[in-house]
Amino acid sequence: MNVVLVIIVMLFLFISCNNEKEDSIELTPDEAKEYLDLGEAIVKESFDSLQTNIIRAIKETGIKGALKYCSLNAHPIIYHLEKKKNVKIRRASQKFRNPANQPDSMENSIIDIYADLLSKGEKTEPIIRTVKKEIHYFKPIIVKDLCLNCHGKVGEEITEENYKVITELYPLDNATGYKQGDLRGIWHIVAKYTKK
Ligand code: HEC
Repeated sequence: MNVVLVIIVMLFLFISCNNEKEDSIELTPDEAKEYLDLGEAIVKESFDSLQTNIIRAIKETGIKGALKYCSLNAHPIIYHLEKKKNVKIRRASQKFRNPANQPDSMENSIIDIYADLLSKGEKTEPIIRTVKKEIHYFKPIIVKDLCLNCHGKVGEEITEENYKVITELYPLDNATGYKQGDLRGIWHIVAKYTKK
């Protein structure tokens, strides 16, 4: 009786493991390249919009007026890209300012990979992962000089006065103390697999 049960359980495990493998898409090299290019183009357009608007707003209205431009929601282009390309655009960070940008388990594992590569001084290339019929594209976000205005050290690059405004808006803020070249987080683009 027990032996029969063990065989049934093993058969069940075997079938479900096999199913999982079959469920996730295996991209051909050409397809992988297409999704890499798609992710790259989306990140470039999104980042260009963020950067241009942050620089303009800092000039025109100072740091306080520029705060909202580091949120993806403040950029109509991001919404349009999501609709036009049928993708989801996210940023995630382990030291997040907005709790909505807290990493999930897959994002955490990718951030750990990039942190490890950077600590060894190695190159950080975009990463593609497939989960069933979804293609996930990741790219590291590295801190530049401009970012320190709002993500640098409080009392140094970020004035106490500006930090007060930031914590009024984001009471759980943990996104300060960064230096140029640090890993700030990741871009995460989710696309649907469409058989060509
Ligand atoms: C004018 C202030 C300001 C500047 C300059 C700025 N940020 Fe931000 N950053 C913010 C605010 C405010 C948020 C929270 C946005 C939200 O609500 O999603 C944020 C959020 C983020 C997030 C999402 C994760 C999180 O912590 O919630 C990343 C990633 C990020 N910033 C990276 C950068 C990078 C890289 C630069 C430089 C190119 C930069 N920021 C420049 C104010 C700024």
